[in-house]
Amino acid sequence: MTRQKVAILYGGRSVEHGVSINSARNIFEYLDKNQFEPIPIGLDLNGKWYLTSVVDREISKGDPLQIDADPKQPGFRTKNQLIQPDVVFPVLHGTDGEDGSVQGLLTAFGLPFVGSGVLGSALAMNKIIAKQMLAAAGLPVTPFIAFGGSERHTIKFIDIVSKFGTPFMVKAASLGSSVGVSKVKSESEMNAALEEAFRYDTEVLIEQYIPGREIECAILGNNPVEASMPGEIIISPRYEFYSFDAKYVDPDAVKIQVPASLEAPVAEKIRDASIKAFQALRCQDFARVDLFYSEKGIFINEINTIPGFTNSSMYPMMWKERGIGFSDLITRLIRIAQQRTTEQGMLNRDFQSSLKY
Ligand SMILES: Nc1ncnc2c1ncn2[C@@H]1O[C@H](COP(=O)(O)OP(=O)(O)O)[C@@H](O)[C@H]1O
Ligand SMILES: [Mg+2]
Repeated sequence: MTRQKVAILYGGRSVEHGVSINSARNIFEYLDKNQFEPIPIGLDLNGKWYLTSVVDREISKGDPLQIDADPKQPGFRTKNQLIQPDVVFPVLHGTDGEDGSVQGLLTAFGLPFVGSGVLGSALAMNKIIAKQMLAAAGLPVTPFIAFGGSERHTIKFIDIVSKFGTPFMVKAASLGSSVGVSKVKSESEMNAALEEAFRYDTEVLIEQYIPGREIECAILGNNPVEASMPGEIIISPRYEFYSFDAKYVDPDAVKIQVPASLEAPVAEKIRDASIKAFQALRCQDFARVDLFYSEKGIFINEINTIPGFTNSSMYPMMWKERGIGFSDLITRLIRIAQQRTTEQGMLNRDFQSSLKY
């Protein structure tokens, strides 16, 4: 049996470059080599693409790649070889990778890929749009106000406090890994937080702080869409919130509990809301839905369309708890993506009309 070629895209221009490399290393390692041949393709911090022999932090030491845009046999070309993957697995987090841009590129060239398409990726990436869509679907989200760069001078501490009290959260609209996210208790902290958030993004949101537990739920599949049991991230009181360092740098910052200790009806509500959120944002194949559970109930915080696959990542842990190991999970993801691509290919693209051109 010939092995299917799986191009693993990693790195990228986003602030989550390093996280992506750690995730992609695991995908590379655990990909079932009996069925699949991994082709690691690194995107360096300048956005240049390279073929590398393994997933490597020194991406630009690889062979520079160009996209070969033959729609019959799309692929990637180095100086002396043409690589035509059967499927692409973008393991990119954040800007230019998880936001629909790479997905658009792959779609335009007819390369099948794992995960949400242009629409789902873009909707989920922007925290403002995502919350508006989730709220419109009747799902509970954290109360927030959105600001564009030109409205920055209109943001008054006392207005925010009268609406949300303190503390409150300030976030850049389209980042991840807690970059550009701050918890604010005073006017000077707010100014610093806005400075930081607007440094990364043209849109910022200010959100009510939810004093609750941080719950995550893993989603897999399209038809049916399946939800894992929820997991919980218990953050050390040394941290104000689940910050970048707590996520990736300090190994003692959090305790992960899978499944989360929740009463059965609450766990069911979380799973149901997570599936509905995935569908409301037109996500595909997989995603991780992050929620808060407080005295006031559940609130959906955000959806990550390419969740982390690092050693400390919840997404693979939540499926492991359901009996799906890392290798099996990757195989399933690829098969789900291939089936979806086949089904999408059956949609009619021709339209007979009398238009003259
Ligand atoms: N409304 C909120 N109430 C309480 N904590 C929050 C709220 N929003 C964010 N946080 C904290 O900040 C972290 C990062 O925020 P999040 O919106 O998930 O951004 P990112 O996409 O960078 O992960 C969350 O995991 C949580 O610890
Ligand atoms: Mg988050």
